[in-house]
Amino acid sequence: MNTPRLTVIGTGYLGATHAICMAVLGFEVLGVDVDEQKIARLASGEVPFFEPGLPELLTKALESGRLRFTTSFEEAAAFGDVHFICVGTPQQKGSHAADMTYVDASVGALAKHLTRKALVVGKSTVPVGTAARLTALVKETAPAGDEVELAWNPEFLREGFAVEDTMKPDRLVFGVASAWAEERLRAAFEPVLAQGVPLKVTDLATAELVKVAANSFLATKISYINAMAEVCEATGADVSDLAEALAFDTRIGGRFLRPGLGFGGGCLPKDIRAFMARAEELGVGQAVGFLREIDGINQRRRARTVDLVTELAGGDVAGKKIAALGAAFKPDSDDIRDAPALDVAGTLHRMGAEVTVFDPAAMDNAKRVHPELAYGKSALDAARDADVVVLLTEWTEFRRIDPAAMAAVVAGKSIVDGRHALDPAEWRAAGWEYRALGRP
Ligand code: UDX
Repeated sequence: MNTPRLTVIGTGYLGATHAICMAVLGFEVLGVDVDEQKIARLASGEVPFFEPGLPELLTKALESGRLRFTTSFEEAAAFGDVHFICVGTPQQKGSHAADMTYVDASVGALAKHLTRKALVVGKSTVPVGTAARLTALVKETAPAGDEVELAWNPEFLREGFAVEDTMKPDRLVFGVASAWAEERLRAAFEPVLAQGVPLKVTDLATAELVKVAANSFLATKISYINAMAEVCEATGADVSDLAEALAFDTRIGGRFLRPGLGFGGGCLPKDIRAFMARAEELGVGQAVGFLREIDGINQRRRARTVDLVTELAGGDVAGKKIAALGAAFKPDSDDIRDAPALDVAGTLHRMGAEVTVFDPAAMDNAKRVHPELAYGKSALDAARDADVVVLLTEWTEFRRIDPAAMAAVVAGKSIVDGRHALDPAEWRAAGWEYRALGRP
């Protein structure tokens, strides 16, 4: 069979990365979005978000002539053999369920122009059962009717590692309803599979579930170690040492066992909530009831960080100067969606503190959403005259801060290490009062 031409519908984080990487791997790719500005920026070689390595690949893909962008679904339908749906599924306002507006709208807009055999592949994170529903929608709407098939190919990419995770993922999952769909997907991932990447072929519902099950497991692992941190705090034990000791057990492993301020971002928090909502609808809410506790532990870490800062500020942060190091939900990202860092900074501000934030990449995003906070030009600038410094995102440049240099600019040598990123002995030796979650 011939090499398929690909369209990627939705050029946000996931879609832009997928479109660029697929073009670099040798496919003819058309990126599609309803946002004209986004399409114009990508077409001119600009990646509209922060992701290491991606701007260089966009330049390369555009120069190859294999990557183009459009806002026309009609053009996409005429061009593509395999259409990847990469639009967002945010949390619904006032509910925990996923908002399916963008998925339904983009599949509908594409389907009405599909006049020949094609495969529509969902990549967005969706409530289980969506693929079955969309299959009916596509077959009803497309002029080509039953010739159009649907498949599911969940995406596991991590921000900051998006290129690596797309080019050489840990695994590929193809949820399919026919041998033809499997063959088309194999062709659309041929260069990735050729590297020996493991492939699991499943039915549609299982493929949808793999994604939420994986993210729920990862969230559980983080909250598990953070629950142990709560116990450590009550006993004077050290959760960092505990985590290291656990990690030697290869059945447990050390990845995603880093204690601290907990998880945020555009995926884990919303995905576990949407999973709970969907499980309730399916009558199996009890099976994933533990995720409510996982979410609760995660929220308590934010509150505990605020408490530690308050303690170091002498029991009340009102009128105190606080330096907040970090705004992004994790390092090597400018993403502030559900960022624990900004949650803590915002709470301290509401409690009357004068909070000055610095982040190496997320300043523009943070200023847009939190105009009430002050912003520094560097970590040292933010720390000037601070009564308490709190490290909220573990950027490498924060790990490398010289405690003596920072001591020279602050008003009070007190630091809360929300991410276990600093060496307590080194900071204490430089005269700092060092506190961390779950550590004596
Ligand atoms: C996650 C999943 O890892 C990815 O597979 C999925 O496709 C999307 O969601 P991402 O949101 O980019 O990716 O970030 P990730 O690296 O998983 O980190 C999530 C959050 O957990 C961050 O806030 C991070 O600081 C926190 N985290 C991670 C911990 O607190 N401890 C850890 O041990 C690991």
